[in-house]
Amino acid sequence: MIHARDEDFVDIMAIFKKYKEWLGHIRHDYVQQMIMNNAKKFDFTSNFTSKHKGTSLLIFERDVALSYSVYKVNRKIGTASAKKGDCILHQICAKNRDGSASDVLQRFFKYINKKVYLSVRTDNSEAIDFYRKNDMLEIGEIAWKNNTIPGKIFLYNATT
Ligand SMILES: CC(C)(COP(=O)(O)OP(=O)(O)OC[C@H]1O[C@@H](n2cnc3c(N)ncnc32)[C@H](O)[C@@H]1OP(=O)(O)O)[C@@H](O)C(=O)NCCC(=O)NCCS
Repeated sequence: MIHARDEDFVDIMAIFKKYKEWLGHIRHDYVQQMIMNNAKKFDFTSNFTSKHKGTSLLIFERDVALSYSVYKVNRKIGTASAKKGDCILHQICAKNRDGSASDVLQRFFKYINKKVYLSVRTDNSEAIDFYRKNDMLEIGEIAWKNNTIPGKIFLYNATT
């Protein structure tokens, strides 16, 4: 899959901004750090600097941005338990409503070839419909901000 480079940054931020309601918390720093992580992992050059310390990677293909990481230790995600080596999908967003998001997500499942977990706000019904349509199963619950924002945990498990 195609991982984002420096020159994709502006286009990616524009897509995140389009969905302020769901992705308003995404910071420049976080996106630049992911591009720097891409550069290190896939051996290309990035001129960004970032104070963010994340290890996530960022795919950018067909104007769809998809961020993810692979757990290095076992982790609880709300009521679910992910294992070392499982994947967490942090965000997916699409510029166009043309099937591109489903295409990128399905190819990502094949590419990563691991269990893929994600959490999503319960009121983001568009995203929830999208995950269900893409063969993900609801397997648990989570909440943010002192239990004021409820969320659901979804899992894609290629082995079931
Ligand atoms: C979640 C999200 C990525 C889903 O994207 P999406 O565009 O609905 O998903 P798809 O790629 O499956 O596209 C399907 C839509 O494209 C339409 N479409 C047009 N041409 C198509 C084609 N050739 N093939 C498939 N679908 C096509 C479908 O009819 C469908 O529209 P509908 O739902 O109105 O029937 C998108 O809503 C989004 O970016 N949301 C904001 C960010 C967000 O909340 N992310 C989740 C939390 S991180």
